[in-house]
Amino acid sequence: MCGIVGFVGNKKAAPVLLGGLERLEYRGYDSAGITVINNNKFETNKTVKRISALKEATENGEAICGKIGIGHTRWATHGAPCEKNAHPHLGFKGRFMVVHNGIIENYLELKNELEAEGVAFASDTDTEVIAHILEKHYTGDVFAAISKTVSRLEGSFALGILCVEQPEILYAVRNFSPLIIGLGEGENFIASDVTALVSHTKKVLYMEDKEIAVIKENSVDLFTASGIKIHRSPALVNWSVDAAEKGGYSHFMMKEIKEQPEVIAKTFEPRIKDDKVFFEGLKLTEEKLQSINRIIITACGSAYHTGVVAKYVFEELLRLPVEVDLASEFRYRNPIVDENTLVIIISQSGETADTLAALKEAKARGAHILSIVNVVGSSIAKASDDVIYTWAGPEIAVATTKAYSAQLIVLYLFGIYAAEKRSSADSKLLKTLLDEIRLLPQKISSVFEMEDTIKSLAENHYKMKNTFFIGRNIDYAAAMEGSLKLKEISYLNSEAYAAGELKHGTISLIEQGKIVIALSAYEGLQDKMMSNIKEVKARDAFVIATAIKGNTAIEKEADEVLYLPETHPLLLASVEVVPLQMFAYYVALFNGCDIDKPRNLAKSVTVE
Ligand code: AGP
Repeated sequence: MCGIVGFVGNKKAAPVLLGGLERLEYRGYDSAGITVINNNKFETNKTVKRISALKEATENGEAICGKIGIGHTRWATHGAPCEKNAHPHLGFKGRFMVVHNGIIENYLELKNELEAEGVAFASDTDTEVIAHILEKHYTGDVFAAISKTVSRLEGSFALGILCVEQPEILYAVRNFSPLIIGLGEGENFIASDVTALVSHTKKVLYMEDKEIAVIKENSVDLFTASGIKIHRSPALVNWSVDAAEKGGYSHFMMKEIKEQPEVIAKTFEPRIKDDKVFFEGLKLTEEKLQSINRIIITACGSAYHTGVVAKYVFEELLRLPVEVDLASEFRYRNPIVDENTLVIIISQSGETADTLAALKEAKARGAHILSIVNVVGSSIAKASDDVIYTWAGPEIAVATTKAYSAQLIVLYLFGIYAAEKRSSADSKLLKTLLDEIRLLPQKISSVFEMEDTIKSLAENHYKMKNTFFIGRNIDYAAAMEGSLKLKEISYLNSEAYAAGELKHGTISLIEQGKIVIALSAYEGLQDKMMSNIKEVKARDAFVIATAIKGNTAIEKEADEVLYLPETHPLLLASVEVVPLQMFAYYVALFNGCDIDKPRNLAKSVTVE
């Protein structure tokens, strides 16, 4: 989705803006632009190509003078991806320049009003109304114009604003769209997320909704929209610059796959003490936990898939009804939620629009909201009663891998924690699970030893047309994620099916040459999976199966077997997903796809 950067300081702004935009590329975009104020004039450069094209055209920004500027990567919502729609956008008197993330819901109403007053529009965007409304309400006081404009806008917006009459001030506004201020020495920044800032500063201020920031070279002042000064201490980001760089890998996705052992250890180690799970600062009291009579998990995409795994784990450990719903569906039904419902929200970015809306819906109905989030200070984290951070570090590849794995860990830990408080599971089982969780980093590392085998499987089959991932129980949950990974980065069609469901229709698609990835590591149901494998083999499918190391029975039926290290069946998804991630990666690689930035996708989906 769109990305914002802004800079004011005592050096050229353009190289900083372009560097920041490059770090935001992973969010997904189709056009980009920067504006700097140079000699009291705006200088704007836009492209419908990559940021590298802007860099090339401007000698990495060095050809542009001016020490204050704003930049933007646009993911088209209102209007096609073309130069006239790329940000920044200029107000009709040439005084204000604006970059915007989010959606102005009442933009048509505002546009009609402005057009009736004779304002001509240069783009099809909702953003342009902001620049014109600023001009309309400007009577010599920029802050007052911004404050008035904010009061007229409905929807979500993060804004970076320049006024050519104040070439030393960068203004920023946040409302339901992320915006962070980076504090430097004699220079300050704004950005949509910290990845754009970490190479300059680790000191950040998280803006809250309806706040306006007045940012100069040596000062940052935060105000409410009505002009009341706010005092907030900065936070320190503990991500290293390396975390946002490829570190020798060709793609962020493979780097992030390989980071998983380390990442999950960081997620669980500080939370396990003396064979017990602790979550610092959790408001969900023991009494509240006892009163919960159902759990609803809601999320989108891969985060939803971790919820599907958690359903199996929670039902086993907590003996509570658990419902998993796609956030985009949950928000548009009439869900049965009350104060005895625990709603668990899962999101890497913490900004997914549908997930945030589902959260608000559940909260309005009285549920306690526990969110599992990666990005600190994100909108979902802020809106929740409780947050457990996944601490996976920045995830740059659009296809999630390490955040998915860290979400699973938090869900296991929460299941164990709640089961202990509710005395709903045998303490020996809980201890076994904790012991097994501690072994997961080394078990995931051992899966990497299969990389060559997986690569050659991918090389042999990368032209496959329709792939079926089948499984039962947690194998089925892992199948969903494996299938999504494959289609999002390789653009090949694939479907995940509960293996028992195949014969109710889908098996008619199975014919010679079809690849079936049969996840059969859940040993309690292996006999059933064997029957399903026989069914597809009888129709000439090529079967790649998973199984636990040492369990060779599957070799009789499958064409290829990927052996996984043994773990507790409830934790199986953590090891099983890894070969599926690597398989998707190599299939995409052999197909020549843009692995880290697949077409049409954005890392953080901030629109419905
Ligand atoms: C996963 O690889 C996808 N990129 C996508 O499904 C993602 O998981 C989904 O958009 C949810 O994002 P979130 O975790 O940031 O809320």
